[in-house]
Amino acid sequence: MRGVIRLLGIAALLLAPVCGSALAQDVTLRAADNQPQDYPTVQGLYFMAEYLEAASGGRIKLEVFPGGQLGDERSTIEQMQLGVIDIVRTSTSPVGEFYAPIGVYSLPYIFRDEGHYWKVLQGAIGKELLEGLQEAGMVGLAYYDSGSRSFYTSKVPIRSVEDLKGLRFRTQQSQVVLDMMEVLGAEAVPMAFEEVYSSLQTGVIDGAENNLPSYGPFGVSHFEVARYYSLDSHSRVPEVVMISKITWDKLSPEDQRLIREAALASVPVQAALWDALVERSREAVVEGGSEIITVDVAAFQSAMEPIYEQYGDNYGELLDRILAVE
Ligand code: GCU
Repeated sequence: MRGVIRLLGIAALLLAPVCGSALAQDVTLRAADNQPQDYPTVQGLYFMAEYLEAASGGRIKLEVFPGGQLGDERSTIEQMQLGVIDIVRTSTSPVGEFYAPIGVYSLPYIFRDEGHYWKVLQGAIGKELLEGLQEAGMVGLAYYDSGSRSFYTSKVPIRSVEDLKGLRFRTQQSQVVLDMMEVLGAEAVPMAFEEVYSSLQTGVIDGAENNLPSYGPFGVSHFEVARYYSLDSHSRVPEVVMISKITWDKLSPEDQRLIREAALASVPVQAALWDALVERSREAVVEGGSEIITVDVAAFQSAMEPIYEQYGDNYGELLDRILAVE
């Protein structure tokens, strides 16, 4: 009998947190990402899902939809603004069309190096811009790493700035990136990420620009249709994880706290996967037949300088503050 009572006591103890949390609302959220399942950003979201599941005793569920299943970046951002999709991970470039200040990250060579990039993102400016997204109906949760972006082409290798002239380049759906291409004398063709592979293959465009993991076989394999990768490293556009303001306002303060916590906990997980993937991708694309071209980075940088005159007024103080971060 005493044994039974003890067992009942243990059972009551075990049940207590479950009954307690049964009073709180069950929450199921949907998250969109346009990269494949094993890509670091998607793995970051899966980590968030596990974290939330554990921290809420199974009450908060996050369903992750990779590979652009819920739409391209522009469309998932719009759906998030309407509360149709809860969480979205995208590049910050297209987000700049909805909340202009965050477009500052897409400017070429805005970050001196990786250290400067993280200092800005994790410091006051990075937080301010995440916060500012609320003006556009989104709540910024965290930034992920996306390394540096370089040009790649299918037929004409880019060895100098002059080689870019007159070629048709896909750009992200971002005015800043489009203007950057035009400053270089190339023709900018804004298009969704999902259309780039076939556009390279069919010759609709001559080139595109992205980081090595996206270009390589662990990303979307553009290397198969564009063999020349020129390491000019013109930008470091971050990835951002956001939640719909409509969803956010329905959550309890405790659940909001857990979601922020989960997103921040996923940052080092994504970053570690990212670091490992950059080198693996470089090796894999070379093995797959790509030529990695070293270029005079300073020449690319000075050729892109005019974009700062164009955007100086728009970003004004923000630009100066980013450049001043030591
Ligand atoms: C990166 C980013 C994608 C984005 C892509 C692009 O690869 O991870 O989310 O769509 O850039 O160039 O559009």
